[in-house]
Amino acid sequence: MAKLIDGKAVSQKVKDEVRAEIESKGLKVGLAVVIVGNNQASRVYVNNKKKACEVCGIQSFEYALPEETTEKELLDLVDTLNNDPKVNGILVQLPLPKQINEENVIARISPIKDVDAFHAVNVGKIMIGNYSFLPCTPAGVMELIHSTGTDVTGKECVVIGRSNIVGKPMAMLLLHENATVTICHSRTKDLAAVCRRADILVSAVGKADFVTADMVKDGAIVIDVGMNRNAENKLCGDVKFDEVEPKASYITPVPGGVGPMTIAMLMKNTLAAKYLQS
Ligand code: GUN
Repeated sequence: MAKLIDGKAVSQKVKDEVRAEIESKGLKVGLAVVIVGNNQASRVYVNNKKKACEVCGIQSFEYALPEETTEKELLDLVDTLNNDPKVNGILVQLPLPKQINEENVIARISPIKDVDAFHAVNVGKIMIGNYSFLPCTPAGVMELIHSTGTDVTGKECVVIGRSNIVGKPMAMLLLHENATVTICHSRTKDLAAVCRRADILVSAVGKADFVTADMVKDGAIVIDVGMNRNAENKLCGDVKFDEVEPKASYITPVPGGVGPMTIAMLMKNTLAAKYLQS
């Protein structure tokens, strides 16, 4: 039987540390959160980010723009936020409506305010291991792995998914800690066999019930980054939890695993941004 990794508890500890530092140093820290359109999932994420700011003593500035916002209007807002000294971090919630090119928006955010670490400058810094910001979800996963007391050095790690937000930076952070890393994706041959090699298996696919027991080695640590809705509209991850849990040594639940960590790491990055700018 696997031990559950408690993302709520680990994330609370991170947020407590951020709050304690802000209070003890009397810092004024601000995060601008921009949401465009009516995506329901995005609305929930943005509300959770605002709540976390309150918990940490970070001032949040919300900009909710209509679905029909043009790219120029959004870029103008980013310019304004780049130049506002009260704003230390800028987060533009993705996805954006189809008339707006996400790459152009990410490129416009000042790299020293890019608390998502999506800007090419920050992605490049992550590649060379000299970073100002860690990408929030992968950094949160690393914290969860550390919370088990596991040393990643020399471990076989398999990441399923090659997105810019999770899969690719996840592989880099594991590599920086001396893991042997494999990235799998939709064209990977014999995915189950590759996954079975993993001492640490990280799934970031976005499909309910994707990771089944035959893909998991006995005693593996299984980290589920998925946030999906099943047939009953219930929140679930990528991992078929009931059949994988008995094989794993540690496993993250959904909800209550990686999700809260992403937001806690965003708070940590916003504080880091404050220091970068002072
Ligand atoms: N949409 C889904 N995850 C994220 C995230 O981590 N940051 C932003 N900006 N948008 C997202």
